[in-house]
Amino acid sequence: MRIVLVGPPGAGKGTQAAYLAKNLSIPHISTGDLFRANISQGTELGTQAKAYMDAGNLVPDEITIAMAKDRMSQPDAENGFLLDGFPRTVAQAEALDEMLKAESMKLDAVLDLEVPEDEVVKRIAGRRVCRNDASHVFHVSYAPPAQERVCDVCGGELYQREDDSEDTVRKRLEVYHTQTEPVIDYYRAQGLVVTISALGKVEDVTDRAMKALSAS
Ligand code: AP5
Ligand code: ZN
Repeated sequence: MRIVLVGPPGAGKGTQAAYLAKNLSIPHISTGDLFRANISQGTELGTQAKAYMDAGNLVPDEITIAMAKDRMSQPDAENGFLLDGFPRTVAQAEALDEMLKAESMKLDAVLDLEVPEDEVVKRIAGRRVCRNDASHVFHVSYAPPAQERVCDVCGGELYQREDDSEDTVRKRLEVYHTQTEPVIDYYRAQGLVVTISALGKVEDVTDRAMKALSAS
């Protein structure tokens, strides 16, 4: 399956993507995680992306599209993928369409996670992420680690993302409304969007998502 996951910052895209990718045996491709990995490795790409991310802005399309294309052309993505955080602009969605068309492929579904804004703010404020692996995500009250600041999965250090400060979150939400919501309309016109509520327990949201995907 080829799936795009959309939803506001903090909706639980990364949390759900980890389970969905496993259930569906497809790779989880997160452009946010790819940028953060580049930043921690000190690459040129990471240096270019960092200032945009820290300010809550989008990284320019040209850089993002090139990185996403490169990742999607890896052998493990040949038979499907779950895109998390890409595309985020209509230009990115058009570039993805072109890329898929060139390979005679198409998307199966765009899964839209719906969460009220006050919940998003609570989820982001309490989020803690593992330095070793971005898929190890916790929350100080909703999904607390056994030991403060220690990852339950690998023992790595948990930290708060630099773009999770209140001001930056507000900026990211504004960017989501102006630049990413039009992407949902773009896919709605193609009949690809399935919207589910992302409220409730993590496993209940995963069940809801699996049901919606199998019906789409
Ligand atoms: P990115 O990393 O994609 O961030 P985002 O879209 O803002 O999403 P988040 O990672 O904040 O949230 P999430 O929805 O994955 O939630 P999570 O599962 O962690 O992008 C960061 C930046 O990179 C962008 O601002 C931009 O600069 C750049 N970028 C990335 N892609 C780009 C692109 N395509 N173009 C241009 N720039 C790009 O969950 C949040 C918290 O809630 C966690 O603590 C979790 O434990 C908790 N939680 C999850 N589910 C539940 C639940 N059901 N109940 C209670 N708590 C829950
Ligand atoms: Zn870890």
